[in-house]
Amino acid sequence: VATLAAASAFADYPDKPITIVVPFAAGGPTDKVARDLAEALRKPMGNATIIIENVGGAGGTLGATKVAKAAPDGYTLLLAHAGISTAPALYRNLQYKTLEDFEYLGMINEVPMTLVSKPTLPAKNYGELVKWLEANKGKVNLANAGLGSASHLCGLMFQSATKIEMQTVPYKGTGPAMTDLIGGQVDIMCDQTTNTTTQIEGGKIKAYAVTSKARLKTAALSGLPTLDEAGLKGFNVTIWHALYAPKGTPKAAQDKINTALKAALKDAEFIKREESLGAVIITDNRVNGADHKKFVESEISKWGPVIKAAGQYAD
Ligand code: MLT
Repeated sequence: VATLAAASAFADYPDKPITIVVPFAAGGPTDKVARDLAEALRKPMGNATIIIENVGGAGGTLGATKVAKAAPDGYTLLLAHAGISTAPALYRNLQYKTLEDFEYLGMINEVPMTLVSKPTLPAKNYGELVKWLEANKGKVNLANAGLGSASHLCGLMFQSATKIEMQTVPYKGTGPAMTDLIGGQVDIMCDQTTNTTTQIEGGKIKAYAVTSKARLKTAALSGLPTLDEAGLKGFNVTIWHALYAPKGTPKAAQDKINTALKAALKDAEFIKREESLGAVIITDNRVNGADHKKFVESEISKWGPVIKAAGQYAD
């Protein structure tokens, strides 16, 4: 009877606005995915009101902590990226346990990254960029969204692959970082195509390479080499995004959200928006919570040693 009552109590869920916490500042790639997804979730969630709340800071861990500690009532969700699987190795007193403190509601997309620079940087291609970086060794400002952000991890891998040390300038998201890159306050950044494509098309920034295994098909980026073919053998970084709820969120709510997510991932408008910016929608079984969680477990064990080897962490 209790389960029946619980299920029926959720029959009219959601009956108030749902908040999706984005653990980075507005205007960046995580925010972009969240707003596009919220649009596509509205109808399948029974015309629910979905509010995006940006909680930036500490490479996305402040926002994730807020959701881990939120009431498990189905009205506070987290949209987070690969950083959720690197934080355990980077943050020594992380305020949440990635595998214990969340319900896993399914994966959304995978987004390649681009190596981009301020418009006034004199290099015309990747080879000239490396020469410029070497000539300006120790003075180059690399922007990122804080320790554990996708831009941080890509920047870390780029520096170790090229053996060119750079100064890093952290922001609460690569939305605000992009403003400074366009303005020339910082020199270079590794950022997701969902945030860089429009700026590259508009000639506001310069692009040199993509971080995925294969070249991209979108007009603005198809001419760019992959970092692997440009000489950084094996370089392969794409950033995945997924949905989470606090541990203990009722199964009925989890199922309703996951069903709505699967419908949203088939929404033609959502797919068009995402693919036009280089993102790839998840179509395999990682759209299911259980497989999503298994994937995160494998990512935690993959990134742990890489990060420890880089000797980067925060107390
Ligand atoms: C990141 O670098 O982790 C993201 O681009 C940050 C953001 O979404 O603003």
